[in-house]
Amino acid sequence: FFDALGDVQSDSLLALIAMANADPRTDKIDVGVGVYRDGVGNTPILRAVKAAEKLLWEQQQTKSYIGGFGDKRYTELLRPIVLGRHAGDDRIIGLHTPGGCGALSLGFKLIATAHADAKVHVGTPTWPNHIPVVEAAGLNISEYRFYDKLETRIRFDEMISTFGSAPKGDVVLLHGCCHNPTGADLDEGQWREVVDVVSSRGLIPLVDIAYQGLGRGFAEDAAGLHLLLDACDEVVIAQSCDKNFGVYRDRVGSMFLKTATADGTKRAMDHVVQIAREMWSMPPDHGAAAVRIVLDTPELRSDWDAEVGEMRARINRIRGQIAASDPRLAYIGGQFGMFSMLPLSKEQVVKLREQHAIYMADSGRFNVIGMADHAVDRFIGAVIEAMNG
Ligand code: LMR
Repeated sequence: FFDALGDVQSDSLLALIAMANADPRTDKIDVGVGVYRDGVGNTPILRAVKAAEKLLWEQQQTKSYIGGFGDKRYTELLRPIVLGRHAGDDRIIGLHTPGGCGALSLGFKLIATAHADAKVHVGTPTWPNHIPVVEAAGLNISEYRFYDKLETRIRFDEMISTFGSAPKGDVVLLHGCCHNPTGADLDEGQWREVVDVVSSRGLIPLVDIAYQGLGRGFAEDAAGLHLLLDACDEVVIAQSCDKNFGVYRDRVGSMFLKTATADGTKRAMDHVVQIAREMWSMPPDHGAAAVRIVLDTPELRSDWDAEVGEMRARINRIRGQIAASDPRLAYIGGQFGMFSMLPLSKEQVVKLREQHAIYMADSGRFNVIGMADHAVDRFIGAVIEAMNG
């Protein structure tokens, strides 16, 4: 029966994690998957999260089900962080999801439930799982080129002309901040132009915001999203706490929906709860409960703010170090978040893997804080050698 299945085109990032783990070389540098690593190369549990888990262990009285919306206090506490000045808007309702990926799936399935023939415009390159998630929802995809890897710049004109000729009701997938895989974020002026064209043409934005706080700061990283919420009646948001709380394996995210009316959003969210029911029934509690306790406990909340600040500072310091090493890498200093993309061919990337035990995605995407402090110079040297070769 199952031999009817052909080969699967597996996600390149999953394959890369396995390959890096299997490499016995002790000096390997794994800048593949997007996890934060500190100066000695560890991915620690945040102090605030550890303290919250202790409180959770002491205080939790039951493991009974938490319901279709998941932890409602958790999504309520996220509102000011994600929605900013729109937090009080009752046309926006959130729901707790397993990670940002769960939120994306829900968002696209909701879109497909409303309009099965909707088309989703996806700028490439993008996170390798975006396209499979959109396809799994049964939606049509239209790709446009968002970023020129060799010229290391956003192809903004192409983005605007794509949106400018898209018919009303088409969907645009946008990265809220810390673009994955390029690190190339829209500046404020570019966001304003995007918001103008999206709102004037009646397009539906779905904003993936998985790295808030790790670029410029919480408010700054959501500034484009807030402009969209100013101008658009309908917005879907897929959010993740996996990175900014360092709870990757606990899968902690949320989906927020805005429609033109509070009643309309309530009705749409009934569909969202039903779609979630078919996929995971109710979201896992533990990670979201830890996040809720952090946000609800003033001392933990301020320690968490400080820890995110430390992560952001390390990201930006390593960016600066790489940018200063060679004029061809200077662009990395003006980008944000965990990722940037090197102007390398797949062959050059493979050579770095084989000869230097440096693991990055075939696209040239690398995690700027994937390596310990002591490894940064070796990484830079090998990259420059690859660019020269
Ligand atoms: C990444 O892009 O490395 C992360 O979002 C991890 C993942 O799930 O791919």
